[in-house]
Amino acid sequence: MKLHQLHLFARLGIALLVLVLLGGFVVSGLYMRWHYDARDGQPGLTIDDIKGHYHGVNAPSPLISALESGHPEDLPEPDRDALLEWLTSGANLSLGYDDLDLGDEAPAEIIAAFCLDCHSRDAEGPDAYAQLPLEYWDDIQPIAHATDIAPAPIEIIAVSQHTHAPSMAIILTVLALLGAMTRAARPLIGAVVLLGAVGLAADMASWWLARTNADFAYLIVAGGFMYGASSMLIGITVILDCLIPAPDPAAD
Ligand code: HEC
Repeated sequence: MKLHQLHLFARLGIALLVLVLLGGFVVSGLYMRWHYDARDGQPGLTIDDIKGHYHGVNAPSPLISALESGHPEDLPEPDRDALLEWLTSGANLSLGYDDLDLGDEAPAEIIAAFCLDCHSRDAEGPDAYAQLPLEYWDDIQPIAHATDIAPAPIEIIAVSQHTHAPSMAIILTVLALLGAMTRAARPLIGAVVLLGAVGLAADMASWWLARTNADFAYLIVAGGFMYGASSMLIGITVILDCLIPAPDPAAD
């Protein structure tokens, strides 16, 4: 049976249903952005958000690491110690940042004196590093704290997979059958279905593998992308095939 042989109403109905399905994908993509967004403290959905969810992320504060490694070389020891003490005190960092009682030893003053030559937005010169401005508290805050994200509890992963795996697999199965009923070349549709299926399997397996090895987060993203792209391609093919009438209906 071919889709274009169906009655016009059936074809319109199927086209509309597949459109709703694809719309659902777009919405779940948006939901993922909001859901994982600020997990790593950086705006937007980053790979660290995914790593955080499935593996957890444990990274020291870049500011502390830089200071402890002896950067910058010409920072006097008392000032380095003052900055490190402030950063590791456990107190509210934003309050201590420009504490007037500290005078020249306030973190903001030390940073202004010893960092901004290189770390301001308009810093120039061979040693400058304008990519990482340290002019304002808002610049400092994201790098002042260690990133410590606990992975989602294993039950949450299981419950989520329990709903995602069957529904995603069924969606692609239905799309594959509809795709096989279009006028598109069968090997082509078949290859796209296979890619999507491999992507989904890799994605789902990586949810678990990422718990022990954070690098599987990349496979979650790549697999999910393959699945999504494959579903979109087949879905669009089905919609077009439903809408484009047969060249000569009498010939069927
Ligand atoms: C002479 C110029 C210069 C000065 C002064 C300087 N920096 Fe840097 N800084 C750099 C450059 C260049 C880099 C990038 C290359 C690197 O990591 O060494 C950098 C990198 C950094 C990084 C990022 C390290 C990472 O994880 O990528 C931090 C944090 C940092 N600086 C903090 C500071 C602080 C705090 C001060 C003042 C106490 C300071 N820097 C003073 C030039 C400077």
